[in-house]
Amino acid sequence: MGFKALITLWLVPALTLTKQEMVAVNVSPHITAECGKPVILRCNVTSKSPDELEVKIMEWSQNKMLLCSVNSSGEITTQNKLSPFRCEYKDQQLSLIFQNVQPMESGRANPYMCKLKSNQGAAHAYSRLELEECCGTVEPILTSREPGCTFTHVHPDGDVHWFLGSRLISDGSLQNVSKRVEDGGWLTISSYLDRPRSDVPYNCSLKSTTSDRYIASTLVTRKALFKNLRGDASSLTVTSLKMILYISVSLIVTVK
Ligand SMILES: *[C@@H]1O[C@H](CO)[C@@H](O)[C@H](O)[C@H]1NC(C)=O
Ligand SMILES: *[C@@H]1O[C@H](CO)[C@@H](O)[C@H](O)[C@H]1NC(C)=O
Ligand SMILES: *[C@@H]1O[C@H](CO)[C@@H](O)[C@H](O)[C@H]1NC(C)=O
Ligand SMILES: *[C@@H]1O[C@H](CO)[C@@H](O)[C@H](O)[C@H]1NC(C)=O
Repeated sequence: MGFKALITLWLVPALTLTKQEMVAVNVSPHITAECGKPVILRCNVTSKSPDELEVKIMEWSQNKMLLCSVNSSGEITTQNKLSPFRCEYKDQQLSLIFQNVQPMESGRANPYMCKLKSNQGAAHAYSRLELEECCGTVEPILTSREPGCTFTHVHPDGDVHWFLGSRLISDGSLQNVSKRVEDGGWLTISSYLDRPRSDVPYNCSLKSTTSDRYIASTLVTRKALFKNLRGDASSLTVTSLKMILYISVSLIVTVK
């Protein structure tokens, strides 16, 4: 009895091993996507006898949701999904290409799986996509009495720190912070400092909780409002200049 069990135990791993050795898929187990940049997940087939290998189907999926597949004729079928991606197939390599990765599509908990079915057996492998820290935009809030600022398109999370000159005034206290999760898993973080506005600019900075680095900052001051007005004034001047030019040209034409 014990002997028989031992034989069965011995046989099972041996069989799996031969099958695994015949054909395998290779992926990069960890891929880091830079914020806003395209990223490619590649999946290669390796076989002990590549000349006799016939791919029946190869596919990329995530959380059991099929993204794209290629059949034995090399025809790619892509499933509809919110964010844009495409698949390419060449020389027994199926690539999954994202133009722009959203936080929701990344992370250790949501690995991508490449699966192969062939005349030499089946194989699969996982690729984990990590999105680097991002902060799309930061804007001072000019409408309220207290200085405020808003960070949008943030990933993963961050703490708002307020400086006056180089002095840290607030790393959590003295401020009202609101965080909102937007489509795709992006965070919008707003903070109001419990201090009056000053002529010396406050520096509103976002410190990433993963890297402990400042990933975005802006200066918030009364002057910011004046700066904007001056910007408008200069564009007005350009318009007036164009107008004068137009009138002069019209005059020349009329005189002629
Ligand atoms: C797939 O194969 C190509 C060409 O041999 C190689 O450049 C690439 O690094 C491979 N990719 C993976 C994920 O193994
Ligand atoms: C592969 O897919 C294409 C398009 O869907 C289809 O026309 C073709 O018959 C398929 N080939 C096989 C062998 O299933
Ligand atoms: C922060 O929120 C509290 C409670 O909602 C409020 O009393 C306080 O005035 C707020 N402070 C700022 C700076 O907005
Ligand atoms: C604000 O302060 C942070 C941290 O000291 C610094 O990294 C950043 O450059 C400052 N930003 C501005 C706009 O001065």
